[in-house]
This record gives sequence, structure tokens and C-alpha cells, in this order.
Amino acid sequence: MPLNKRFTLTQYLIQERRRFPGASGDFNALILDVALACKAIARAVAFGELGGMLGNHDADAGGAVNVQGETQKKLDVISNRYFTVMNEWGGHLAGMASEEMDAPYQIPGEHPRGKYLLVFDPLDGSSNIDVNVSVGSIFSILRAPQAVADSGRDVVEADFFQPGTEQVAAGYALYGPTTMLVLSVGNGAVGFTLDPNLGEFMLTHPHLQVPADTQEFAINASNSRFWEPPVKRYVDECLAGKTGPRGKDFNMRWIASMVAEAHRILMRGGVFLYPRDSKDAAKPGRLRLLYEANPIGFIMEQAGGRASTGIVPMLGVQPTGLHQRIGLVFGSKNEVERIERYHAEPIRVELNNPLFAERSLFRV
Ligand code: AHG
Ligand code: MN
Ligand code: MN
Repeated sequence: MPLNKRFTLTQYLIQERRRFPGASGDFNALILDVALACKAIARAVAFGELGGMLGNHDADAGGAVNVQGETQKKLDVISNRYFTVMNEWGGHLAGMASEEMDAPYQIPGEHPRGKYLLVFDPLDGSSNIDVNVSVGSIFSILRAPQAVADSGRDVVEADFFQPGTEQVAAGYALYGPTTMLVLSVGNGAVGFTLDPNLGEFMLTHPHLQVPADTQEFAINASNSRFWEPPVKRYVDECLAGKTGPRGKDFNMRWIASMVAEAHRILMRGGVFLYPRDSKDAAKPGRLRLLYEANPIGFIMEQAGGRASTGIVPMLGVQPTGLHQRIGLVFGSKNEVERIERYHAEPIRVELNNPLFAERSLFRV
């Protein structure tokens, strides 16, 4: 094998740490533990049926429905376990929270406690697992409130209620044809590819940048009857293509695995919408703020893209619940800003009236 001059994840972290001469090294060790969990999950995913990994979680083994009321896959549960086991012992964390755990996870008494909080979606897109479509893990790192770090007390939900701007780092692993780790420690967004021979994440994408413009959008169109008028307007204009107000044709993609859509958008631009809609009054949006919208939003913004609720910047939202759902729009900056503009404009009832559809009022 030729001498590979690429940086490993460890080398990248060491280099980044030089920006903070007083840093303890806890943070780097934490990221490496997260990466180890992701590598373990990548192996579990790769074995699929051979490893007995497909299908739903066995209810007898501790419940088959998570706090969201969603059926847990075997791999949801296994991935959650990898995250907790790999990260509970190192002394870097005050606590964890996960899509698959109702309440915050306490660091067991036999392990030291630290100053960070880890929040994660252990397996995003897991409804795709049985059909062998890309899935991934999403994580966000926050600082524990000072009082928690000082006292070492158990964490409570409110300790995690920090806006996305407070994230120290965020990232995701994508288990696709190759396994990748995309990470931001607040200094841009970078991508690593898992070298299957070395078992190391190698820096392959040192400067991820989301193009500001795009002709590709992603939305679950089966929800269109529940969309709010600004979203309907945006999608209608994309669908109208060259002959519509946008004056260009658009492509549509929907993988139903947000982490895979986020990755596509990081690689070549695009816009993703899972907006607030009227499908279920109890659920303002489908995706969860703390472990889906905020970490993906952080990476997007670090890569020059934008993340929003459609109305306000995602990273400014003050969380009020561990599993709170929210409308999510992210990707190419100019498209996300356009969607925000449409939300800010007064609702124009004429939009749904064909009599007025051609008026210059609607030309943008
Ligand atoms: P999860 O598998 O962690 O529950 O998240 C699935 C999410 C997301 O990945 C995807 O974009 C969305 O659900 C798919 O929703 P639809 O089923 O409405 O397409
Ligand atoms: Mn998810
Ligand atoms: Mn999940």
C-alpha cells in the first residue's frame, strides 16, 4: 500500500487542539469515543441479515416502541447501546440523551463524570435499514451547565435545553457505500472516510462548502395537503420549472434518511424541507430539535449553508423538551433564505386562486 499522507481523525483533532493551548484533551478523547461507537455501528450495519441485525427489536428484550411512539428496529437499540457503552466510561461526560431513551442517561457510579453532554440519534433513517439504504448516526456535544460539572450531580432534561449556537461540536456518521464521518468542531466542516483496512477515519474532505444556489430540493410530497402556504408556494414554484417564476428546472430527491440527504447537500448543494405542517397537531414537524435539527444545522452553517425552522434560524431556538419536534429547512443558503422570505410575507390568499396565479405580484 502506498504511504498515505492523509490526516487521520486523531491527527486532525490534535491539530485543531493547538488553537486552544490550555485544552485538557477531554474533548478530543470524547470525539474519538464517539467515532469508535460509529465504527462499531458501521460493522453491525454492514453485517445486516448475516449478523441477525435486521427487523424490529424484540419486545421481550425491553420494549419495541421508543418514547416517540415509533417502532424500534434491532439496530436502533444496538446502536444506542454502542453509543452509551463507548462514551460512559471516559470521564468526559456529565450525561447523555438519545432519541431511543425517554430520559437522560446517567453516567454509572463506577465511572468518573465530566463537563460535556452528548446528545444523539443513534441510527437516523432506520426505517430504511431492511431495504439496505444508507443510514447514519447524528451527534451533538454541549457543555454541561457549570453547576452540573462542579457537583457531578445527575443530569436533568433542562440541562440539555441549550440553543444550537451553544454546540461545541456536532457531526454525523453515514453508513453508505463507504462509511464517512462529517464533523465540525466550530472551525468549518470536514469529512473523513473510514479506511476499512486501517479501521481509521481519514481526512478526505477538508473544506466542505454548500453551494449557495441549487436546482435540487428534497421534501416528502405525500404531505403536501398538510403544508403551510409558504411551503406550498416554494414547492409549486420549483415544480413550475423554466416556465415558472424561478425560470429554471428543479430536480427532486427523497431518501427518507435525513443524514443521507444532508450528506448529498453538503457534497453538491440542495435544500431539504421537513416543514411544520398540519398533519398532527401534537407534532410541530417531524424531526427532533436536539439530536437532528441542531447538529445538522450546525454543520450546514459551518459549511456556509443555512438551517432554519422556515421562520427563524434553527440554531437560535431555545429548546423546551428533550424530544421536541420542529420544522426543519436546511441547505443552500439562497434557497433557505427564500423560504424564510416566503414565510415572512403576509399570506396571500390569491395564491390558491387560479384567477390571480399569473399576476406579476407572484413573480420573484
Ligand atoms: P429516525 O429513523 O431517526 O426516526 O428518523 C427518520 C427521519 C429522517 O431520517 C427522515 O428524513 C424522515 O424521518 C423520513 O420521514 P418520512 O417517513 O415522512 O419520509
Ligand atoms: Mn432520526
Ligand atoms: Mn433514529
